[in-house]
Amino acid sequence: MDEFLNEPGLQITLILISLPIIFALILILIKVNRMISNTLKKRELKRIYKHLESLPPQEVTALEERKKELEFQLSGNELSLNKNVKDPRGLVDQANEIHDIRFLQSKRKESGKISVPEDEKKLILWFLGCAVFWLFMGTTVGEYLGIKFVAPDSDHLSWLSFGRLRPVHTNMVFWGWASMAMLGFSYYVVPRVGNTKVFNLKIGYWSLILMNSAVFLGSICLMAGINNSGGEYREYIWPVMILFAIGIMISIYNHLKTIEFRKTEDIYVSNWYVVSAMMYVVVILFVAYLPFWQDGLGETITQGYFMHQGVGMWFMFFNLGLMYYFLPQELNSPVYSYSLSILAFWTQILFYTLIGTHHFIFSAIPWWMQTVAIVASVGMVIPVAAGSVNFMMTIRGSWHRLKLSYVLPFYVVSVIFYFTGSMQGTAEAFRTTNLLWHFTDFTVAHSHLTMYGIITFMLWSFTYTLVPRLTSHEPPSLTVGLHFWMALIGVLVYTISLMIGSTEKGILWMDKKPFLEGVIKMFPFWLWRAIGGTMMWISHIIFAYNFYRMICPRKEIRIPETPSEILDIIHTQQNKAL
Ligand code: HEM
Ligand code: HEM
Repeated sequence: MDEFLNEPGLQITLILISLPIIFALILILIKVNRMISNTLKKRELKRIYKHLESLPPQEVTALEERKKELEFQLSGNELSLNKNVKDPRGLVDQANEIHDIRFLQSKRKESGKISVPEDEKKLILWFLGCAVFWLFMGTTVGEYLGIKFVAPDSDHLSWLSFGRLRPVHTNMVFWGWASMAMLGFSYYVVPRVGNTKVFNLKIGYWSLILMNSAVFLGSICLMAGINNSGGEYREYIWPVMILFAIGIMISIYNHLKTIEFRKTEDIYVSNWYVVSAMMYVVVILFVAYLPFWQDGLGETITQGYFMHQGVGMWFMFFNLGLMYYFLPQELNSPVYSYSLSILAFWTQILFYTLIGTHHFIFSAIPWWMQTVAIVASVGMVIPVAAGSVNFMMTIRGSWHRLKLSYVLPFYVVSVIFYFTGSMQGTAEAFRTTNLLWHFTDFTVAHSHLTMYGIITFMLWSFTYTLVPRLTSHEPPSLTVGLHFWMALIGVLVYTISLMIGSTEKGILWMDKKPFLEGVIKMFPFWLWRAIGGTMMWISHIIFAYNFYRMICPRKEIRIPETPSEILDIIHTQQNKAL
């Protein structure tokens, strides 16, 4: 038994399981504490109400006088002999600088509610709620995988083996987290930019059910060892993946109908991106699953095509569309250049669809095909630069708001990662660099720099922009700050450690050193990855809490303190008596 408990893997697993339990216990303690304090406050409030009912008139008059005293204000011209007071440089009027520590200071509240039909709101929040759930589940699996690199003997159960859990993680965060959140946002953006309503809400719910069923059944099958044998990110068996594809197809129909009944003349750029991305994902899913393309070298080409169209034409394309709506909304200023967004749209379609085979440089795929993929990877500089410049120029002039908004930092970080992550991809595509990095953890660092740094940060930005506007409830800015910093520092620790380690490992391999030396070299870097991963994972628990606070606000009981609050109660009591 002692030996069993001394297993580092088991210890780490126990710590991992205990973290959410401790978190839940803290939450329960806070809740119980609040319940006790609310009961006491209610009792106090009852006593105050009773006391106020029989308050003698002279005390009411005294309160009214006190209220007047407190509300008294100088007219502003007492010292100026009735001359107008002038403050042309706004030294007094606009003295609104805040000097607190940035991530602790109180942030500006989101201005106003948006009028969205209640039933549409519900659908959007269901999509987002499910997405938050899958982010937590998917990254709990990712966290465990990261730990397995430093404690490979954590368990000996086939259902929890690395080979089965890895695709559970990737598919859950792809189809559960990112895809479901994206679809939820599309149900908000598509009707809004057409100034209309969702064509058919029932279709939306069917999409939600089908997508959730696919992720749930797919994960169980993968853990049980039932998979599509091979191709990365298409490990779900076809009867499962078809549920997901149907979910998307019926939503395409729904969105096209919504666009058809739009009240605007133009179709805003967001809808171009969103609907195209949805069409692409259906195409690539069919290409990835049609049986006659799954043999020999053709299968490898299909795999490259599927993988990069998946990340580029589904996740990236969709999120760019959403960015063109949400970033201007958050800043309350228009997109810097509509033409740049259209240039990025067409060049992304041109280049991204050609780069699939850069995943298999030096493989048996024709040399010219690999060269086309490398050239197109360089061509990707055009849409990426056009998009990043457009976003940065849209933010230009609003930098001072970074301090006052808890949402804007998420946008800025995602745009920076959009540029750096994509350019890193271009750098990886060249033959010389690919020779060094291809089989190392560098690819994993790139995956997280992009899927996490770009896509996940963008989705968080949209969540914090939209949900408070839908529900009128803000998350606490302290926990949003915690979420931001834990996720950002976590992903930097995760990716930078892997990039350094994998470069050293690549050099070692090129020096023809034994494979095992590379494994030993990677150990500290894998440990850093586990530490960074843990920070990211904790940030997701905080994000889930923030989401909960945005949809279920805390009810505060206030004990009246000022004369005007006491008088308000007296007046309502008097009105009721009448
Ligand atoms: C200019 C744009 C980009 C280029 C040129 C590019 C290039 C590359 C290359 C060359 C690889 C293969 C590395 C190897 O196996 O040796 C790769 C892998 C990958 N990229 Fe990108 N990338 C770009 C943008 C993105 C974006 C925006 C995302 C996500 C939204 C992304 C996600 C991934 C993922 C997940 C992999 C790993 C695939 C695997 O499992 O093998 N990339 N990328
Ligand atoms: C707590 C946060 C996370 C942790 C600890 C984590 C950990 C891991 C680990 C350990 C792997 C296996 C790497 C390998 O086989 O060498 C992996 C793969 C992967 N994860 Fe995550 N992950 C996290 C979040 C995410 C998120 C949010 C996404 C996407 C939205 C994501 C996308 C991927 C992808 C695409 C791969 C495949 C990488 C490749 O083949 O290049 N991960 N992750």
